[in-house]
Amino acid sequence: MKALICTEYGGPEKLSVQDVATPTPGPGQIRVRVHACGVNFADTLVIQGLYQVKPEPPFSPGLELAGQISAVGEGVTHLKVDDKVGSVASHGGMAEEVVVDAKGAIPIPKGLSCTEAAAFPVAYGTSHLGLWHRAKLQPGENLLVLGASGGVGLTAVQIGREMGANVIAAASTDAKLEVAREAGAHHLINYEKEDIREAVLALGGADVIYDPVGGAALKNAMRAINWEGRIAVIGFASGDIPQIPANILLVKNISAVGVFWGAYPEKNPSLMAASLKQLMQWRVEGKFEPHISKLYSLEEAPQALMDIAARKSTGKLVVQLCDDC
Ligand SMILES: NC(=O)c1ccc[n+]([C@@H]2O[C@H](COP(=O)([O-])OP(=O)(O)OC[C@H]3O[C@@H](n4cnc5c(N)ncnc54)[C@H](OP(=O)(O)O)[C@@H]3O)[C@@H](O)[C@H]2O)c1
Repeated sequence: MKALICTEYGGPEKLSVQDVATPTPGPGQIRVRVHACGVNFADTLVIQGLYQVKPEPPFSPGLELAGQISAVGEGVTHLKVDDKVGSVASHGGMAEEVVVDAKGAIPIPKGLSCTEAAAFPVAYGTSHLGLWHRAKLQPGENLLVLGASGGVGLTAVQIGREMGANVIAAASTDAKLEVAREAGAHHLINYEKEDIREAVLALGGADVIYDPVGGAALKNAMRAINWEGRIAVIGFASGDIPQIPANILLVKNISAVGVFWGAYPEKNPSLMAASLKQLMQWRVEGKFEPHISKLYSLEEAPQALMDIAARKSTGKLVVQLCDDC
């Protein structure tokens, strides 16, 4: 089979498509013929050895995938060959076949394509658990989303709107803000042109800040947070991990809450399942759909990672390995 391989930690230019042995599922595992693999900012860190999880090279990047089961391991009875499933793993999705744990595989509901299923769990799951469970966003509250046109940012706009919040989208270009507006944002702030603090205060301040960017964007935005506001710390796409001064937390009774979605399958699988169920229901009811801005072949996958790292993408990028199922 063909797979995109990282033979040594480094940038996307070091990745290459190679012929490798097809893996065999062990007990409790399944093998999936990958139809599509969602691209995440985290992939750009994994291949450099800079992410929380550091797979030993050689390995294939790609942490959310969807396709059809091509083999089942011993003891797997609830899934069978040809079933369509989605799965999240630490790596391995950018390959024609991948072996994953059967218990983490999610059957793809009718009406959802593999391409969409591969773009769904990480971004929607993170934003939903971040806003609902961690930041406890309430209807009528002002939600400020930084990096609002990005993979997780855009889903925070959609979910925040669905939860009844007044959504303020902040991004670096007017074109990106237009994508956020189409996804349901009520107000737009270009943080390259406008003073984000002044702009947010003029809209009544932020009750919740959803932050996948960090750096100057959060530093300035947190000065426009309201009494008992919450900062959901999602990630640091800017490369700058911001400091949140304790005096700012104290004076306005603010909470800063961390969100690491990838920990929920182990720490609280039932909460994660409830969140994914709610998201699937909203999706099936047509409340929102993933914004997939570009498809790439397996050979083009390094370019997808370069586009994310260069801040060029909006919504989700997906590597599509075969005609959709
Ligand atoms: N905590 C979790 O469980 C979890 C889950 C998923 C993702 N994340 C994290 O969330 C962050 C975003 O992930 P994503 O997949 O949504 O990425 P993405 O699609 O690339 O979005 C990131 C956004 O950050 C902004 N940005 C600012 N400076 C940037 C820079 N130097 N390089 C790239 N982007 C920059 C960009 O918006 P503007 O140009 O508008 O500023 C971009 O749209 C990452 O740090 C990722 O690791 C965390």
